[in-house]
Amino acid sequence: MSQQTSLTGKKVLVTAGGTREAIDAVRFIGNRSSGKQGYAIAEEAMRRKAEVALVATVARDLSEGIDRYLVESAAEMHDAVVPRASEADVVIMAAAVADFRPSSVKPAKHKKSEGVPAITLEATADILAELGRKKPASQVLVGFAAESDNLEANACRKLSEKGADVIVANNIVAPDAGFDSDTNEVVIFTRSQADASGVASSAANSIDRLHVPSVSKREVASVLLDVVEGCLAAIR
Ligand code: CTP
Repeated sequence: MSQQTSLTGKKVLVTAGGTREAIDAVRFIGNRSSGKQGYAIAEEAMRRKAEVALVATVARDLSEGIDRYLVESAAEMHDAVVPRASEADVVIMAAAVADFRPSSVKPAKHKKSEGVPAITLEATADILAELGRKKPASQVLVGFAAESDNLEANACRKLSEKGADVIVANNIVAPDAGFDSDTNEVVIFTRSQADASGVASSAANSIDRLHVPSVSKREVASVLLDVVEGCLAAIR
């Protein structure tokens, strides 16, 4: 068993998997997220003796002692995450949350004989951005950035626009990385510790970058939680 860490006894909330947005009684709009990275983070936080809650869209094997809440849509994830986040010391939004959902859901099955359906989409709430606006000063908020191009610029933009302390960016079109893979290659962007503590400094707005080459998702989780522990130490 692991020794005492700075995550021992901390409340860590993790999300995992891709949301499903219903079109009708049988069909949905989904994405390729497997939930593996979020589950690996929850397991690693548990190993570090944190009090872990996991909001997930997929049921995978999970150690005893992790509280899991299964949800399906972005709206359900929002409602499960937001109240729990206010109590958390660390929130890690690893889930691939839909940005758009059908604006109306047909309660029955749309029959082929009715013709090609016109599906109108509407925006979902951005959960991470909402958490960033409501974030307690002592909380570490982590988001992910799934990118197919301009990884660095997009990740830095998400760090500031969503009010996160850390963004884990992955190139989803790289081989052996991203959705459903057992390995991942990421760059972890962290607001400088001076920013995180709220202390004015000439380093304000600076961003630290840590490249994690292709390793198992559990190893990515371990490096990420080392970064999170560094952030917790900086804001203490
Ligand atoms: N996210 C969220 N709520 C949403 C969409 C995304 O909380 N409705 C979170 C994800 O969990 C992730 C981060 O925001 O931690 C970035 O998600 P990503 O899909 O990479 O970015 P988007 O916000 O969708 O932006 P873009 O379409 O420009 O890539």
